[in-house]
Amino acid sequence: MQKVIALLVIVAVSSSLQSPVETESQTEMQLEGQQSELKSAAEAVPQPNFVIPFFTANWHKSVEYCNYLGLRLVVIDSKEKEASLYAAIMDSDIYSNGSNLVWVGASDLADEGSFHWHATGKRVVYSNWADRQPDNGEQIEHCVEAGLHEYHRLSMKWQWNDRDCKANRYFVCEEY
Ligand SMILES: *[C@@H]1O[C@H](CO)[C@@H](O)[C@H](O)[C@H]1NC(C)=O
Repeated sequence: MQKVIALLVIVAVSSSLQSPVETESQTEMQLEGQQSELKSAAEAVPQPNFVIPFFTANWHKSVEYCNYLGLRLVVIDSKEKEASLYAAIMDSDIYSNGSNLVWVGASDLADEGSFHWHATGKRVVYSNWADRQPDNGEQIEHCVEAGLHEYHRLSMKWQWNDRDCKANRYFVCEEY
């Protein structure tokens, strides 16, 4: 899946770099077709509406509080949605206050090793785990946090990790 998206991004970028005076080869026409498909797919997906409360809570309280607002703890089912989630975090009070880690709505509480989205009951298919995660550290890590994690000991990368559900984290609710 990531490879497909990476390819589509390359296709989109390379298409946009094409000079209009070039004669269209068949390959170029195919590229343009794929680009417009990508564009219409992006238009068809409504922009998610996130709410990021400015306090921390354990994972269960986060679920409860989102529900209380008539929302749900965020479900990340695509690379695109994950990117908009991180953009929302970077635009939030929690980020201005030096934080980037948030609870998202997946856990393997019901079935160790098998992560599911709480709000939909669907298995986690798209995922973006950090290096060597999920590791169920000390056998107590069952809830998923997303944020900046160490990447190949060199830099930080926006990824997922499993964490003790009782830990306090900021969290992200979404409309659905
Ligand atoms: C902002 O960050 C400080 C330092 O980490 C923390 O003590 C404080 O609780 C944070 N404020 C809110 C509203 O979360």
